[in-house]
Formats: sequence, structure tokens, C-alpha cells
Amino acid sequence: MKKIYLTTPIFYVNDSPHIGHAYTMLICDTLAKFFQLDGYEVLFTTGTDEHGMKVEKAANKKQIEPKVFVDKVSKNFVKLSKTLKISNTDFVRTTEERHKKAAKAFWEVLTENNQIYLSDYKGWYSVRDESFFLEKELEKRNNEFYTVDGEKVQWIEEESFFFKLSNWEDELLKYYDNNPEFISPSTRRNEVISFVKSGLKDLSISRTSFGWGIKVEKTSNHIMYVWIDALVNYLTSLNYPEMSEKSFLFWENSSHIIGKDILKFHAVYWPAMLMAAKLPLPKKIFAHGWWTNEGQKISKSIGNVIDPNDMIEKYGLDQLRFFLLREVTLGQDGDFSEQSFKTRINSDLSNNLGNLIQRALKFNNKNFSNKMPFELEKPNKDDLLFEVYNMYEKIKPDMDNYQISKALEKIFTLLNKLNKFMDKSEPWNSFKTNQEVAARDLSILIESFRVIGIILKPYIPDASEKILGFLNIKDESRDFKFIDFKYKLKKGHCINDPEPLFPRYE
Ligand code: MSP
Repeated sequence: MKKIYLTTPIFYVNDSPHIGHAYTMLICDTLAKFFQLDGYEVLFTTGTDEHGMKVEKAANKKQIEPKVFVDKVSKNFVKLSKTLKISNTDFVRTTEERHKKAAKAFWEVLTENNQIYLSDYKGWYSVRDESFFLEKELEKRNNEFYTVDGEKVQWIEEESFFFKLSNWEDELLKYYDNNPEFISPSTRRNEVISFVKSGLKDLSISRTSFGWGIKVEKTSNHIMYVWIDALVNYLTSLNYPEMSEKSFLFWENSSHIIGKDILKFHAVYWPAMLMAAKLPLPKKIFAHGWWTNEGQKISKSIGNVIDPNDMIEKYGLDQLRFFLLREVTLGQDGDFSEQSFKTRINSDLSNNLGNLIQRALKFNNKNFSNKMPFELEKPNKDDLLFEVYNMYEKIKPDMDNYQISKALEKIFTLLNKLNKFMDKSEPWNSFKTNQEVAARDLSILIESFRVIGIILKPYIPDASEKILGFLNIKDESRDFKFIDFKYKLKKGHCINDPEPLFPRYE
């Protein structure tokens, strides 16, 4: 069986889950569902990033022990994964024993391979980003230094272990060159290449000034830099350091779906460390864009954070999925506005999809006693039904390239054509003069709904299952294999009465 391994970033637990977290989860879930329906064995992980200065500070502020704090707040992310009904096969917490074991083993291999040395770190650090900065990357205001995002940095000086990142410049560039698909979209790939070309410095990978992290063995006071700890989570789920042959097969076809802000860690540090540990690299790093809210950057201080729970309560899960997936090309930034949300849901989901199914099935059931009324013949190349069966072939290349919105655009263009077909064929009129013609046209629509119901499962799973339920399709006949004329609904097949799928918003 073909295998694929998809990962979301693991989330800092100091924050409440917001739309950005939900976005990454939903992208991965859509891809996971698509590949599963396509016959792949899928591993899909998400989780929480629970160590580091930022989390420790958040716990201190609440005057709770860090471990007690993270046990509590990581549940919010587990809850989000349940609310979003994502199909993750694992949830990694970096405070779990299996993860500590993996991170320590990874460190050990880097040490054995002579990739780590002890020295002193002096430089700027942003707690929010959990990242080191060079002075040239910062802005100076009133004798203080800030990141481009306006985050004040602090000066740190401490003993630290370093990873010999500078040794890997050429190897990385060679790898990007030989594997043009490794970093997507290509604009991000270019950014990474110029970053590496501008020169890499060795990376400070341990901290001694605080204690909330995974201990570096054989030292008294070093803990691992939180990003090293966090990146290893992708291997923890594959049971590193005891990865089986099967785990390696998943790893060979793995994709890290991340936000554009954490590209450097995934596309520079992580591959260099994997090379240094003599491990194969993941297949792909895909960086998605960021959402703004009504044109404004989303931030706690502005108070415009979008809570996915509120959105789901107000509009529904499929509606939220659809908007986020359809509105922007994966990789680009998107703007969230109530107006564009409602417009998108009304035009695509309520009118184009929901209303069409409702009208056709209601009319059919009333006039043809809840039965498929006609035995369809194999369609010719020019028939609309031919295009319907062909839709999977048409969107497969888009989905292989994670172009989710493009795939949805194609499916909804087809739905447009089905609407036009219904309007033009006017079964309510033909029924009065030639019932056979009305029966044939309705059957073309109903069979199309079967295919559309299957094909939309990765994107709007709840509605798809409902559509397939209206058509009485068995659970085991709902994957992509069944998008074929040989599995068509036969004349006489029972059809249930439809319920409304998507209410319209005013
Ligand atoms: N803990 C690190 C990741 C470690 S992975 C080995 C981290 N966590 S985070 O909680 O800050 O961010 C998680 C993800 O949420 C990132 O991919 C980030 O890009 C994404 N988003 C945060 N805000 C976002 C938006 N406004 N829009 C879209 N995604 C955003 O970074």
C-alpha cells in the first residue's frame, strides 16, 4: 500500500487555539482524507510544543508549575482537534517520555557524528519567536532592539552547545538544487536559497539560564533549545530511534505543512540536522500563508483573534473548512471577513451545491416515488456525465501539488454546469410531456451527486456524508474507487428525501 506521512507544526501551548492553528490542521486533514480515499495508508500528526522560555514564562505568570500548566493547556489543542474532527493518527506532546527519548537519542547521534561543540552564546533572542537574531535583522528604537514584527528582543550571554550548521551550507544548496519540489511554493524556496547563500552561522542549541526543557545528558545545567526539541517530534511519532522499515517508508513520503513564519527552522535547520544525523530528509516542506482579520494583522493586543470554536458554532464546520480552503491559493495570505465568508458560503455551498441537490432530489422523489427513475447508459466523451466521472482525474494533479483551492474551483465549475443542465433540461416541464426524458435527466443529476458526494469528502466531509446518505450509498462504497460508471446507481435504487444542507446567510 502506498504510504504518506503528513504533519502540522506542534503548537505553543501558551496561546489559546486560534484560526491560524485551525488552518494548518484543516489543510493537513484535507490532504490526509484525500490520500486516504485515494488508497494511501496515511499517518497524520499534530501536537503541542510544551518547553522553552515562552511557555515557562506563561506558567510563571499564572504561578503554576510548568508541567501542571502544560498538562492543562495542551488539552485545549486536543479539544480543537476534536472540534475540527480532524483525522490525525497521533498527537505528540513534547513532555511525553517517548518524545524525550527521541530528542535525547537525536542529540546523541549528532554528538557521535561530531556535529556539536561547547562554547558561549552572546546575542539577541526573541522569546515570542523562540529565536536568535543578528543585529542586522533588527530595528533599533530608543536604544532597544525589535524584530520586524515589533517584538522586543533580549540580550543573552550563556554557555551553550552549538550545532555546526555552517558546515552544511553547500550540502543544503545542493539538496535544494537536486530536489526542486522539496520546498513549496517556489517563492519560499527562493527565499530559503538566498538565506542559505548569505551564509550560515553555527546554531546555539542549548540553554543554561532557565530549566524548562529536555535535559542534555551528561551535563548538569543544559537543556535543549526548544526548536531542536520541537522538530524531533516528527520522528517521535515514527518511534525514533527505533524506526521500523515501515516507518522509513512513511518518512520517505512525508510532508511538513507549516506557516511561512517558521520556514527557516523547517527548511534550513531541520534538513541540516537530519543530514548531520545521517537520516533521510522529509519529502516536502510546504509553507502556507497567514490570515488577517478584516485586513488587519491578527493579534491578541489588537483583540481581533478569531476563535475557530466561535466560527463553527456560528456557521458550521464544513462552512469554515470550505472558506479557508477555497478562498486562497495554498501558500498565499488570506483575509478573513464576514462579508467574503457569507458570500462564499451562499454562492458555492447554499446555491450551487445545496440548492441543486435539494431541488433535483425533491422533484425526483415526489414524481418517481423515491426511486432512481432511469437506467443510465455509459456516457460519451461529450456528455456532462463523462466530465463528472473524469473529475477525479482532473483534480488529482492539483491535490498532489497541494493546490486545494484549484481542485475546489474545478469541482464547483462542474456544479455550475450541472445547475445549468438542470435549468436547461427543465424536468418539471418535460415530466408533463415526456416522462422518460425527465427520468433520464434527473438520473444524470442524481448519479452526478453520487460522484460529487464522494469527491467532496476531503473538503466538506459532513455534507458529503449527508449527500451520500440521501442516495443510500453503502459506507464501503464511498471512496474514489467508486467514481466509475460501473458503480452507477441502478434504476429502482431507493433515494431518501433530502434535508437542507447549507442555510443561506443574509
Ligand atoms: N511551536 C512552533 C512550531 C514548532 S513545529 C516543530 C510554532 N507554534 S505556533 O503555535 O506559534 O504556530 C503554529 C502554526 O500556526 C504556525 O504554522 C503558524 O504559521 C500558524 N499561524 C499562526 N498564526 C497564523 C495566522 N494568522 N494565519 C495562518 N497561520 C498562522 O510556531
